[in-house]
Amino acid sequence: MTTPIPVLIDCDPGHDDAFALWLALGSDRLDVRGVTAVGGNAGLSHTERNARVVLTVAGVTDVPVAAGAAEPLERELETAEWIHGENGLGGPELPPAGFELDSRDATALMVDVLTSSDEPVAIIATGPITNVALLVRDHPELHERIREIVWMGGSTERGNVTPYAEFNAWVDPEALDIVVRSGIRFTMVGLNVTHTALVTPEVRERVAAVSNNTGRFGAELLDFFCATNNEVFGMPEGPLHDPVAVAVLAAPETITSVHTRLDVELVGPETRGATSVDLDGMLRREPNVHVVTALDVSAFWDRVVAALRTLA
Ligand code: BDR
Ligand code: CA
Repeated sequence: MTTPIPVLIDCDPGHDDAFALWLALGSDRLDVRGVTAVGGNAGLSHTERNARVVLTVAGVTDVPVAAGAAEPLERELETAEWIHGENGLGGPELPPAGFELDSRDATALMVDVLTSSDEPVAIIATGPITNVALLVRDHPELHERIREIVWMGGSTERGNVTPYAEFNAWVDPEALDIVVRSGIRFTMVGLNVTHTALVTPEVRERVAAVSNNTGRFGAELLDFFCATNNEVFGMPEGPLHDPVAVAVLAAPETITSVHTRLDVELVGPETRGATSVDLDGMLRREPNVHVVTALDVSAFWDRVVAALRTLA
């Protein structure tokens, strides 16, 4: 077996963030060294608590969880309660978190994990990328300690919060721009591919059949998530975006990506947060990111269900 990749997960749980955390924690290819929360789907006080609850449900109480940015770099936070409920994890009754929030802030936790690791650490981000932007901006000396950044957000096609912007990109486009320009290896996992990771009735049955705490809690999350996706987007099989970003490292055999050019729209009043992905090389600019273009959906769900089974 190869040595697991050390990873930090930056998230805003969030129903799909919960599955992203579980896929990472249940994967023998990844070693989760820390979790950081950001304001996104709900306010920071919810997302940091939700991250600890999601780990607790899975029986994991020894991975530090730290709180990061409550607001985007230059804008006011806009949340997504229409999909995730007011507390960010609508549906199941939330048990108390089994451990306290780490006393460090997100940047301090990430710095400690990066500097204490023998090898470069990957960062998987599944929310507005504010925390990662702060780390990258304020700690250039640590860039070489970051193996790569994989982020769920953006799209090569249309958006899900405005016609051309995906939620995570739209909430903090300036943060995304900083991270993309940093020169650190960056992979975008956008709606163009996450919209294939649909929570079909069969997926719901498979999750519900995982006979542990995580399976039961996860099934209740999916019931709520599919109901709100149906109400808002007419998609009763809600797309479970965030675990696809984890699959880039935990299940790379399920992923197809291309090296291409990404530029982030910061100013357009109608297009703020749009991710301009030059798949056809029309702009003749240097490729600067990897963009995921396809997912082996059935193998992906096998990996998600297998990960859930390893948890409590
Ligand atoms: C992204 O936005 C959030 O609502 C989800 O958790 C996911 O990270 C999808 O646009
Ligand atoms: Ca998210």
